[in-house]
Amino acid sequence: MDTTRKTAIITGASKGIGRAISLNFATNNIDVVLAARNKNQLQQVHSEIEKINIVRSVIVPTDVTNEKQVKNLVETTIDQFGKVDILVNNAGVGRFKRADEFKLADYHYMFDVNVKGVFLVTKYVVPHMLARESGQIINIASIAGKTGFKTGTLYSASKYAVVGYTWSLREDLKEHKIKVSVICPGSVVTAFGKKQPERVEWSMEPEDVAHACNYLVSESDTVNTAEIIIKPRYNPRTIDWKRRRGKGK
Ligand SMILES: NC(=O)c1ccc[n+]([C@@H]2O[C@H](COP(=O)([O-])OP(=O)(O)OC[C@H]3O[C@@H](n4cnc5c(N)ncnc54)[C@H](OP(=O)(O)O)[C@@H]3O)[C@@H](O)[C@H]2O)c1
Repeated sequence: MDTTRKTAIITGASKGIGRAISLNFATNNIDVVLAARNKNQLQQVHSEIEKINIVRSVIVPTDVTNEKQVKNLVETTIDQFGKVDILVNNAGVGRFKRADEFKLADYHYMFDVNVKGVFLVTKYVVPHMLARESGQIINIASIAGKTGFKTGTLYSASKYAVVGYTWSLREDLKEHKIKVSVICPGSVVTAFGKKQPERVEWSMEPEDVAHACNYLVSESDTVNTAEIIIKPRYNPRTIDWKRRRGKGK
């Protein structure tokens, strides 16, 4: 066991932003514990990390809404690595409808993963960080946690909850030398809320969010950025710039 290397738990690591954060950490010499429900997809990310061949990666299939599975995730991490230096609460889901069209089940679905999931994983990780007076927690909220948008009532409410949770958690933990931050990305090209990644005009790449995470874990001990809002800019994969400038179709 190499105790000089940091260990990170990443939830929602099976695809999208969580996959990108895991690969980015792995290339930056951070051991990774990959958590999500889909074992096959976790296995694929694990294989990609093995090819990088710098760090150790372990998969722990976990539903973040299930307390028993969350306890197992944290216990397995401690068994395998002896510590948790970084937690990235990234697992999240979204459904989008006009407010009156949502069913109560939609509410439970989003709040269970987006809010209860963040609460549970944090609850079981924090005692290990407190014991070492060291650690860093990064929550992936959304720009929907800073402003509202059409069809976004429940999703936005759940992400505002994540932002509020994070700012309070920061106050709980700062005297124990544990860093806490929230990242609020705008649209990212992933399969979020869909079956396949979709071309949304103003979208950034999952790696852009991973880059923000890497920035946070690279900060010096005398600083801890509280919140990062990242918005898409120039993405040739998602915007037909020639058409936008009126030069092409
Ligand atoms: N894409 C965007 O435009 C965007 C923008 C801002 C913020 N975000 C946020 O970024 C985070 C990642 O989203 P993404 O775009 O990467 O979406 P994604 O590609 O759909 O990935 C979502 C991840 O969450 C996991 N997950 C869902 N329910 C889970 C549960 N109950 N337990 C454990 N893991 C669960 C999924 O894995 P399994 O299905 O295998 O469990 C998957 O790994 C979310 O919190 C989302 O709200 C996304």
